[in-house]
Amino acid sequence: MSAKPLRLGINVDHVATIRNARGGPRPDPVRAALLAIEAGADGITAHLREDRRHINDADMARLKASITKPLNFEMAATGQMLDIALATAPHAVCLVPEKRTERTTEGGLDVVGGHDYLVPYVDQLARGDIRVSLFIEPSEEAIDAAASIKAPVVELHTGAWCHAVEVGDMARAAREFERVEKAAAYASARGLEVHAGHGLDYDTARQVSALPQVVELNIGHFLVGEAVFVGLAEAIRQMRRAMDEGRAASI
Ligand code: PXP
Repeated sequence: MSAKPLRLGINVDHVATIRNARGGPRPDPVRAALLAIEAGADGITAHLREDRRHINDADMARLKASITKPLNFEMAATGQMLDIALATAPHAVCLVPEKRTERTTEGGLDVVGGHDYLVPYVDQLARGDIRVSLFIEPSEEAIDAAASIKAPVVELHTGAWCHAVEVGDMARAAREFERVEKAAAYASARGLEVHAGHGLDYDTARQVSALPQVVELNIGHFLVGEAVFVGLAEAIRQMRRAMDEGRAASI
């Protein structure tokens, strides 16, 4: 049996981070999104944070109006974000935890503690014809909770694994990758669509692409960094090649 196609979602948040460092209009994350699609992205991801530190409300509206591929709207499960998401009508919403003091999304959503709040929240998005994914830790407990919340998709947090690789702690990296591998199989067996993301580079993306249950990767920071050296389109093409190599190894 051959593995399912693997989509690449490009996260343009950090194009907006660079823009906001100077307060003007450049570089424009919408321009980056259009270029990313031309270079082979299957979708665009953007995180509208409560503090608007990178993507802002106007960016989200412009992304929705401008791009020809699915928009994945990352957000915290707040009342304000629900209203904006329903008004924007993206293809998908990915619910993430959010702390004002964090640099990036640390850890997965508390799907166990937040269960009773998340059930009606996810239902409202689903009734707005938005596909909901929950960004969770790669654990059976989180997957069981996600399934009971009735979200059709989970995105497995790859951050702990990628960080271990980055600092060269290969014993921990092996353990963390095993968690991702097991979680992908378990979530898929429970009927959930499986995505993965956070901290991926060419090598880790190649490795995670070999997991046949994973059908989408969402990648941002590394690619925006690589764009400084080789350009965004070339970085995306290299990422696509790495993913294809990894996928071929799983067949
Ligand atoms: N997926 C989710 C749910 C995220 O929160 C992020 C970070 O915004 C990413 C993917 C992309 O992570 P990175 O920018 O490290 O590639």
